[in-house]
Amino acid sequence: MNNIIVSPSILSADFANLQSEVEILEKNGADWIHVDVMDGHFVPNLTIGAPVVKAIKPHANIPLDVHLMIENPQNYIEDFVKAGSDIITVHYEATGEFTEDIISNIKSHNVLVGLAIKPKTMPQDILKYLLMVDMVLVMTVEPGFGGQSFIEECAEKIPVIRQNAPENLIVQVDGGINEQTAKICKSLGVNSLVAGSYIYNSTDMKEAIKALKS
Ligand code: DX5
Ligand code: ZN
Repeated sequence: MNNIIVSPSILSADFANLQSEVEILEKNGADWIHVDVMDGHFVPNLTIGAPVVKAIKPHANIPLDVHLMIENPQNYIEDFVKAGSDIITVHYEATGEFTEDIISNIKSHNVLVGLAIKPKTMPQDILKYLLMVDMVLVMTVEPGFGGQSFIEECAEKIPVIRQNAPENLIVQVDGGINEQTAKICKSLGVNSLVAGSYIYNSTDMKEAIKALKS
């Protein structure tokens, strides 16, 4: 077994039964649980916030991978830390000139920090932060909704990040990931995969997670 981190997105889960959804993911081999936080401003959709992270935390024995698709993420870091996030990922497009400060703030709470880029953002824009973060998230769809198709050109950013990164940087992709697109991303240097629809639409979740890892 290789060391691919599979982080199923609970955006595709049954929100009325999140406790069992988290337990089922864990039982079926998920490494992390990906939580998509959307504010209706940074992205057009509105989903869940820190109270939901707090509610699922006691039921999760695996790390909560919290993807903040929100404006002014600096105002919410403490809430998400207190709620039990293990990895907090912010978008470069939302942090701009304050990126370094926000990364330091997240790190000061002893959680892992990720920096995400949307499809139109160039990887060169974030190379100077690679030594400061634990993870880079390359979005392979426009953030906002599950169930979209993988944008192939986004995958070209992966080697650029990988070539400029320290060896232990986690490179994650999110959006339109299935067995085929996962293969492309892994061959280019990704070691963490977020997947929503592919996992939840599969007839056998355990096999789907295993297929992403192999
Ligand atoms: C999109 C979210 C994703 C989404 C992935 O903005 O960040 O995590 O849930 O869903 P799929 O795997 O269906 O593309
Ligand atoms: Zn996500």
